[in-house]
Amino acid sequence: MSTLVRKVLQGVRRTLKGTRRPNGGQAKGGTYSERVMLRLNAGKTHASLGPKLKPGSAERAQRTLDRLVERGLQPEDTFIDYGCGTLRVGALLINYLAPDRYIGLDIDQRLLDLGREMLSAEVTSEKRPTLRVISPETIDEVAARRPDWIFSNGVVQHISPEDLKVYFANMRTLATTQTKICIKVSKLEEKSARKSPNTWFHSLVEVEGAAKLAGLFVQNFTSTSGGTGGWLVLQTEEGQHLTTSDTSASIQGKLT
Ligand SMILES: C[S@@+](CC[C@H](N)C(=O)[O-])C[C@H]1O[C@@H](n2cnc3c(N)ncnc32)[C@H](O)[C@@H]1O
Repeated sequence: MSTLVRKVLQGVRRTLKGTRRPNGGQAKGGTYSERVMLRLNAGKTHASLGPKLKPGSAERAQRTLDRLVERGLQPEDTFIDYGCGTLRVGALLINYLAPDRYIGLDIDQRLLDLGREMLSAEVTSEKRPTLRVISPETIDEVAARRPDWIFSNGVVQHISPEDLKVYFANMRTLATTQTKICIKVSKLEEKSARKSPNTWFHSLVEVEGAAKLAGLFVQNFTSTSGGTGGWLVLQTEEGQHLTTSDTSASIQGKLT
């Protein structure tokens, strides 16, 4: 582990000292971030966050970048990675994209700090990635850069049905009529269900409904091979009218 990464984890450890319960035991962490931080702080592996990724996780990140390039990602595109975590996919995107084109958003500054520390100094100074904690102000700031892409990988399952509305409303604010919105969902179920304190498996119908409420419409859904998840491509209502291909009938078939 590099000195920089160790320093960030020491900072995380200091922050978590403030979360002890009155009985003296370490809080288990009510929020998703707290649980993740406790795990990273203990030096454990994680499927997508921190310096110690589980086996196969880095390879899956590379495949995700390959799929984005197949879907038309170009180095000059402005790209938002919504729920970027510690830049598992983000670091590959930063490397692929031209300077000032990558924008990583997340709910927790500590994850963004850790992700930044894991980038080399050369990459940081050459590519100048933007990393921001999600807030009304940062959403407005980033929307002004008129992103070509909004991508969100492995995030939906950590958002409650209630908070899906905010998730899609933010994406709607960020999107122009031309923005490609790609959401990669690792698991969908027939009926939405809470699997653990911070994990929900949503149904495609529910995700589509929340997106529609925010003014985003499903253009395409491709299920991942061998899995129950897939890639959901969304666009704004105005963007729909600009799209020439009529895919809506086949999509509706998959959504019901
Ligand atoms: C499983 S990690 C995926 C990280 C990254 N996208 C990747 O593929 O490596 C889920 C990420 O979603 C973030 N997250 C959780 N709830 C969120 C929300 N409501 N809005 C945006 N990001 C959220 C977490 O902080 C975490 O970084």
